Amino acid sequence: MSDRTMARQVLLFISVLSLSSVHGQVSYSIPEEMAKGSLVGNIAQDLGLDIKRLKSGKARIYTGDSAEYIELNKERGVLLIKERIDREALCGQTTPCALHFQIILENPMEFYSITVEITDTNDNAPVFKRNAMTFEISESALTGARFVLERAIDNDVGINGLQSYYLRPTDHFILKPNSKIGSSKNVEMVLQKPLDREKQDQISLILTALDGGEPQLSGTMRIIITVLDANDNAPVCAEAEYTASISEGAPKGTVLTTISASDADQGPNGRVTYSISNTAEGAAELFEVDETYGVMRLIGNIDYEKMKHYEVDVQATDQGGHSDACKVIIEVMDTNDNKPSINTMSKTNSISEDATPGTVVTMMNIQDHDSGENGRVQCSMNENIPFAMKSTSNNFFTVVTDSDLDRERDSEYNISVTCSDEGVPSLSSSVTLTLQISDVNDNAPVFERSSYEAYIIENNTPGLSIFTVKARDADWNQNARVSYILEDSSVNGVPVSSYVSVSADSGVIHAVRSFDYEQIKDFQFRVKAQDGGSPPLSSNVTVKIMIQDQNDNAPQVLYPVQTSSSLVAEMVPRSADVGYLVTKVVAVDVDSGQNAWLSYKLQKATDRALFEVGLQNGEIRTIRQVTDKDAVKQRLTVVVEDNGQPSRSATVNVNVAVADSFPEVLSEFTDFTHDKEYNDNLTFYLVLALAVVSFLFITCLVVIISVKIYRWRQSRILYHSNLPVIPYYPPRYADTLGTGTLQHVYNYEVCRTTDSRKSDCQFARPCSQNVLIMDASSTGTMQRIQNEKNILDEPDSPLEQKPPNADWRFTQGQRPGPSGAGGPPEMAMGTGPWPNPPTEAEQLQALMAAANEVSEATATLGPGTMGLSTRYSPQFTLQHVPDYRQNVYIPGSTATLTSNPQQQQQQQQQMLMQQQMAAQHQALQAQPSEAAAQPEPPKAAQTPASKKKSTKKEKK
Ligand SMILES: *[C@@H]1O[C@H](CO)[C@@H](O)[C@H](O)[C@H]1NC(C)=O
Ligand SMILES: *[C@@H]1O[C@H](CO)[C@@H](O)[C@H](O)[C@H]1NC(C)=O
Repeated sequence: MSDRTMARQVLLFISVLSLSSVHGQVSYSIPEEMAKGSLVGNIAQDLGLDIKRLKSGKARIYTGDSAEYIELNKERGVLLIKERIDREALCGQTTPCALHFQIILENPMEFYSITVEITDTNDNAPVFKRNAMTFEISESALTGARFVLERAIDNDVGINGLQSYYLRPTDHFILKPNSKIGSSKNVEMVLQKPLDREKQDQISLILTALDGGEPQLSGTMRIIITVLDANDNAPVCAEAEYTASISEGAPKGTVLTTISASDADQGPNGRVTYSISNTAEGAAELFEVDETYGVMRLIGNIDYEKMKHYEVDVQATDQGGHSDACKVIIEVMDTNDNKPSINTMSKTNSISEDATPGTVVTMMNIQDHDSGENGRVQCSMNENIPFAMKSTSNNFFTVVTDSDLDRERDSEYNISVTCSDEGVPSLSSSVTLTLQISDVNDNAPVFERSSYEAYIIENNTPGLSIFTVKARDADWNQNARVSYILEDSSVNGVPVSSYVSVSADSGVIHAVRSFDYEQIKDFQFRVKAQDGGSPPLSSNVTVKIMIQDQNDNAPQVLYPVQTSSSLVAEMVPRSADVGYLVTKVVAVDVDSGQNAWLSYKLQKATDRALFEVGLQNGEIRTIRQVTDKDAVKQRLTVVVEDNGQPSRSATVNVNVAVADSFPEVLSEFTDFTHDKEYNDNLTFYLVLALAVVSFLFITCLVVIISVKIYRWRQSRILYHSNLPVIPYYPPRYADTLGTGTLQHVYNYEVCRTTDSRKSDCQFARPCSQNVLIMDASSTGTMQRIQNEKNILDEPDSPLEQKPPNADWRFTQGQRPGPSGAGGPPEMAMGTGPWPNPPTEAEQLQALMAAANEVSEATATLGPGTMGLSTRYSPQFTLQHVPDYRQNVYIPGSTATLTSNPQQQQQQQQQMLMQQQMAAQHQALQAQPSEAAAQPEPPKAAQTPASKKKSTKKEKK
């Protein structure tokens, strides 16, 4: 300010100087906007004029057309502001701005130029035309971008004019630097920092214009910048990872989660849409995402067992193409929706029963697709079977045998394996496998009984099936196919196969031959049952066959010998007493038991009142005193019956001569042959013819025997008897052993003799069967017999006197008591006349005793009383006494007295020899007897048989 004041005074000084010289020119300088009446200058003084002059001169201001801003005060002589002067209005921007006017004086007319310079004062502030200016600038505008701003106007000039701008704040924009400040110059602002709509979408700036006045004045303008959006932001997921869980089997439409992504941009740039971008593992088929809202839903069937978790990328995209990927992790939760599955990996359908414990039967794999408890599986097997489950490794099981198997106990097993998981509720599944146990030949056939006994009645037809053995084999099929085999053995030296056969398939035992109880009473053998296994197993059983007796043999009368001529007669002296033993009928029956129990009855008699027959002993006795009136010829018919069912019988005719002498007898008996019994026409001639032949024979025999007896009498006078009719049994007969003493030749003859009488003899049995059996020494004995022709006539012969065989005695000694118990049942309950049937042994004993008795009685006969008893010479007796021992059944023993294989063989040999010898005899018979001429006591009524024997002996 002081500068300005000094400059004005300087200017004023200069103006005064020039006025003085130019003659009235004065300059003044005043600031504008001076108040009215303000003093501009003392013009009177400056012009040097006296105030009076002024008055006088009527001084006045001349301005031309211009308005008068200054007035002249003549009294004072000063110039005053008449009107407020606005330089800006007066001069505008022109400088300097001066008022030029003249002061005119009259009286002298004179004028003076006055210049009043009006100086600027800062009375105008800078002004913007608008008070606000708006811009829309994209946020993506680059830095350096310029924006033109409106200028401000300041009417002041010079220093008071517009001097500068400034912009506040300057965050993003600055004014273009170095821009010339000038009213004509534009103002520009420059983006110096990028805009971000997202941070500040509107920027408000103040542009201020300043002048240089004192005081400084300013004008402002608001600049409003709207930041336009650019798609400079990508969507952003709200969470980096979404997790969701869902149970398997959840229904479709279940919401898993909602994804949200935000985009800072605006409008379309900020509008986010969602989509599944990651389609791995088929997730696109299972899930969907709502495009607009990001809701994720299940659209498929989810299965834990297929996939336990999914990772799905959901893409959030704005319209501008920016995107973000939101990861969604979906955990599938297990539910117990799977049964355990049992897979049989390998199995056997059948296992051998001898499999060792631990043999693997099947292998299985067990799986449950569920997890955790839902997938934890427990397996079990049905109880009470010999199998166990073993876990080999994870989920692998084997079923093994854990004890011994036995097909015969259980041939099949159903093994059911049940596996259940531990889920709630638990699911289970089971599998059943049927295992067959295959057979091993571990069982031998077993017979139904430990031994068999069978009965067969003798005289069976060969081929008859006796009975059946049966063995069972617990094995199967071939191993159980039993075949029956007869084991080799021998019965009485003959292979058993010639007795029986066994049907291999059926076990039926057939008789191969017809059995004869009299030959064999029982035998036993073994039958083996063998199965078809490999190797076969077998067992055996003893079979005992008992042959039962049939009453197939009629009693055989041994004495008196029956001949066709019937000339045998017993003599009863007329002096005989009551009870006189006339004779004894001796008969045997080769059957046994009841079938061999004989009873004797008188069937017919000339005089029934004279004789009786002992029912059991066959003794014929007188029952009253013989009188002279009794006929000489007495004929008795005795019937011998056995006790069989049906009973068989034999009859024997006994001729009794009641006489005291032979001639008497002979005279009486000449017509014996004409007995009315033989009156039958047909037989009569036969008998007659036979009798004639016989008579010739007898004559010869009588001669021969007479010679022999004569000789014998010469040497020994032992057997003389007063009672010549007593049957004679030599002591030798009592010797039950008789070893080697029995001449088979004679036996052979006996048969032939009996053949003519008894037609069934030859069918009943071979001759040899009735003979006593010779031991090994018999052959030698026979030779001796042949050498020493008279050997049988020598009672003292050492051969004849042999002691009883020890074996025989032993057998006798051990025989049981008298009852028949122990035999076959039918034998035990006999219905015969004996309340207590005697055993055969007893019978035999009785027979022996009787024989001895007679023998003894005969021995007491004196010489000359021999009479007819000579018939009962040893030769005769021996010829007709068969062996009883074979008929003696010893209870408790299977052996008969003769059932010795060796003996049988010998019997066979004897048979052969007998036949040979018989042939010899027949040849010899043709030769005339050497001894025929020898004198002998007369012998009446010799039987043809005895005569034959005698003849043969002689011939030998
Ligand atoms: C095994 O099962 C079958 C069929 O179910 C049945 O016929 C058979 O009797 C069963 N076997 C055993 C030993 O239980
Ligand atoms: C028969 O069986 C018995 C046992 O029962 C046995 O000891 C014997 O050896 C067998 N005999 C044969 C010939 O097999």
